[in-house]
Amino acid sequence: MPMKYYLAVYGCQMNISDAERAAAVLEQIGYKKTLNMNEADLILVTMCSIRQSAVDRIHGLVDKFEIIKKEREQTLPAGRQVQTILTGCVLKRDKKIFVDGFDYVLDIKDIKRIPQLLGAKTKIKNQTDYLDITPKYENKFSANVPIMTGCNNFCAYCVVPYVRGREISRPAKEIVLEIKKLINPTSPRLRGAKEIWLLGQNVNSYSNVLKNNRIVKFPKLLEMVNSIPGNFWIRFTSSHPKDFSDELINAMATCEKVKPYLNLPIQSGDDKILRAMKRFYTVEGYKNKIKKLRKSVPDIALSTDIIVGFPGETKTQFNNTVKLFKEIEYDLGYISKYSQRAGTAAAKLKDDVSTEEKKRREKVLTDVLKQTALEHNKKLVGTTTTVLINEPKNDFWLGKDEHYRTIKVYPNKTASQIKIGQFVKAKITSVTPFTLTAEVI
Ligand code: 5AD
Ligand code: SF4
Repeated sequence: MPMKYYLAVYGCQMNISDAERAAAVLEQIGYKKTLNMNEADLILVTMCSIRQSAVDRIHGLVDKFEIIKKEREQTLPAGRQVQTILTGCVLKRDKKIFVDGFDYVLDIKDIKRIPQLLGAKTKIKNQTDYLDITPKYENKFSANVPIMTGCNNFCAYCVVPYVRGREISRPAKEIVLEIKKLINPTSPRLRGAKEIWLLGQNVNSYSNVLKNNRIVKFPKLLEMVNSIPGNFWIRFTSSHPKDFSDELINAMATCEKVKPYLNLPIQSGDDKILRAMKRFYTVEGYKNKIKKLRKSVPDIALSTDIIVGFPGETKTQFNNTVKLFKEIEYDLGYISKYSQRAGTAAAKLKDDVSTEEKKRREKVLTDVLKQTALEHNKKLVGTTTTVLINEPKNDFWLGKDEHYRTIKVYPNKTASQIKIGQFVKAKITSVTPFTLTAEVI
């Protein structure tokens, strides 16, 4: 019987990508994946530390592991035990706490050490950098490709620079080569990826010096990926507004494979709060960039990240965010209640907005977002869109269109031809704020 591993993945796309790398290492030493935590010989957790609630969830898991370990002791052969590994974004102080709850707590860059830790005899390929490990892709048509790791920005509320270290950009040539392999329909890795996500904490500060001393910045990298022949979509996340340049707007407008969707986190619609957050742009500067972008890419769909209840945020300052939301008319938004993170600059400030008030602010913004997204979507009824099919449901298929809108695609008589990972043209028949219904044409 092969040993089985279970992945518990929390957090962002980078963590998903990292878990896929850890899975590849485990498969190389003969482990097989299980979707049932209770039958696993190894449970690997990639954790997120962005908010305290994410950390608390791991404490909950540790309690569960204790029960699983005790139960499995009865049935496993003598000397064999369920083992647990914690990796992903783990704060230094949490590492000290979690060493008691896990068998191993590993830095993500050290996942190539897993075989050695587990006492595996199989020799695995020697990869110098953890990003050189070929992931075991979960999704058969959409691939996450990290282009950089780390962050140099130290926004006052954020733990990422502490857990992921400083920015390191991957060589452009390596990225292009990896994507060429991924989109190849005969590739053993994926059956021809249709969607490539370029990942980084701040992709806009990507920078790689070529052998001839030419510097490749993010807009140039987009052009290089765009010129790879093939039928695939390019998306990227995440972007910092301070580095969102005219060159990037131009690249988005001219690269036909770069799809018209952008997540540009503003975090707050108030200049004083933005200064306290150490974001280094103003609301006016952000709005001007959006104006330019909309001029160059008129059908761009926009999303943002917001933190409500940052220390000292008054009702008036919050109302500036509401005003901004109404002005920009986002299509999607990721709204978080501020969570104090030890070690960050904001941890020195009093977390003085009550949980109730944070919840209220979150709801107010969600309501505005629902209205603006619905208004945008209503205009789409009767129009045609291209959908990348993601998942079969009972009587429809779920997918995302070029604008990253969630689409329920209902079949017509040719329904049997629809497959996961296929582009289909569909006509939008009805809409809600965050989901569109369409029929295949
Ligand atoms: N509290 C709440 N939200 C946070 N984010 C980052 N740090 C915190 C925090 N301490 C949010 C930001 C960021 C997203 C990934 O998570 O909005 O853009
Ligand atoms: Fe965190 Fe993003 Fe700021 Fe970096 S740019 S510190 S990842 S919020």
